[in-house]
Amino acid sequence: MKIAVCEGDGIGPEVVPVARDVLESLRPDCEFFPVEVGYGKWDRTGSACTDDDISALKSADAILFGAVTTPPDPGYRSVLLEIRHALDLYANVRPVRGEKCDIVIVRENTEGLYSGIEWQEADRACTVRVVSRRGSRRIARYACGIAKGRSHLTVGNKANVLKSDVLFRDICLEEAARCRVPCSTQYIDALALDLLMAPSRYDVIVTTNIFGDILSDIAAYLVGGLGMLPSANIGRRHALFEPVHGSAPDIAGKDLANPVAAVRSAALLLKHVGDDTAAAQVEEAISATFARGIATRDIGGTAGTAAFSGALREELRRITRRE
Ligand code: NAD
Ligand code: IPM
Ligand code: MN
Repeated sequence: MKIAVCEGDGIGPEVVPVARDVLESLRPDCEFFPVEVGYGKWDRTGSACTDDDISALKSADAILFGAVTTPPDPGYRSVLLEIRHALDLYANVRPVRGEKCDIVIVRENTEGLYSGIEWQEADRACTVRVVSRRGSRRIARYACGIAKGRSHLTVGNKANVLKSDVLFRDICLEEAARCRVPCSTQYIDALALDLLMAPSRYDVIVTTNIFGDILSDIAAYLVGGLGMLPSANIGRRHALFEPVHGSAPDIAGKDLANPVAAVRSAALLLKHVGDDTAAAQVEEAISATFARGIATRDIGGTAGTAAFSGALREELRRITRRE
C-alpha cells in the first residue's frame, strides 16, 4: 500500500510523524513517500503545490495530511481546497465520538461557498454559493450509506433563507426516503447550539461545505477540543486523511500539539482500506494512554507531544503483542 505523507506547516510536522509511525507499526506493507505542499514550500519556491505534487498524490493509495498555513497573499487559493478539487474528494467525513456523543458529520467538500467562483469589484467582493443537483445527490447518498448502518440522518441547512439550500435539503430528503433512512431537517444555527446542548439527539449530520466546516469545529467542544477530531476526505478514486484542526502556528515547535486527531485520522485510513482490526487497536491504544492519566495540555493533561506519543506507542505495542 502506497501512502503519500504531507506533513504541511506549523504543528503538521509534529503530529503527522506520530500518525505515520502508528501506521508503519501496524501495517509493515505500507510504503510511505513524502509530498511537500503548503506555506513553507510557497515561501521557498513561490508555489504551494505544483502539478507534479498533485500527480504524486494521485498515485497514492491513500494520503496522510497534516495541515497547511494560509500564506499572506490575497490572490492565494488554499492548497487543501486545490487538492480536494483536483482529486474530487467530495465527502468530508468527521466522526465525533466521546462519552457524550457518537456523531458523524458529513460535509459536502467540493462546492457550496467554496465554489472558487469569486471576484472583487470596486465596492464589493462576491463569492458564489453553488449547490448542484449532482453534488447534493452524491453527498446525500454517501451520508445515507453511513446512516443506514446506524440510526438516523439530520440535514443541517438554511433553506429558510437560501434558495440553494432548498435544493440541498430536498435532495437529501429524497435520497433518505429512497434509502429508507429516518431523516429530519434542522436549521444550521439552531443545530449548532442543540448539538452542544443535546448531543445524544444526533447521529449522522449531512450539510453543505462551510456549514460543515464550522459545525465540526463547534462539535470538537464535545470531545475536548480540536486536538481530538480526525477527518476523512473521500472521493471515488482517492482518499485523504487529516486532522480537523489547522497548522496551529501559536503552539508550533513547542511540544504542545495533541497528536490524537492525526493518529485518529490514521485509524480512519486503516478503516478505509478495510483494516478494521488495526483501526480498533489504534483507538484502544489512545484510550489506554488516557486511562494511564497521560494527556496533552489542551485536554487538561501535562504531557508534551513527544511524551504522549511515546506512551501511545508503548500501549500500541502492548495491545498488538497480546493479539
Ligand atoms: P487551528 O485549528 O490551527 O488552531 C485553532 C486553535 O486550536 C489554536 O489555539 C491552536 O493552538 C489549537 N489547536 C489546534 N490543533 C491543536 C492540537 N492538535 N493540539 C493542541 N491545540 C491545537 O486554526 P487557526 O488558528 O484558525 O488557523 C491556523 C492556520 O491553519 C491558518 O493559516 C488556517 O488557514 C490553517 N488551517 C489549515 C487547516 C488544514 O490544513 N486542514 C485547517 C484549519 C486551518
Ligand atoms: C478544514 C479547514 C479548511 C476548510 C481550510 C484550511 C481550507 O478549515 O478542513 O476544516 O475550510 O475546509
Ligand atoms: Mn475547518
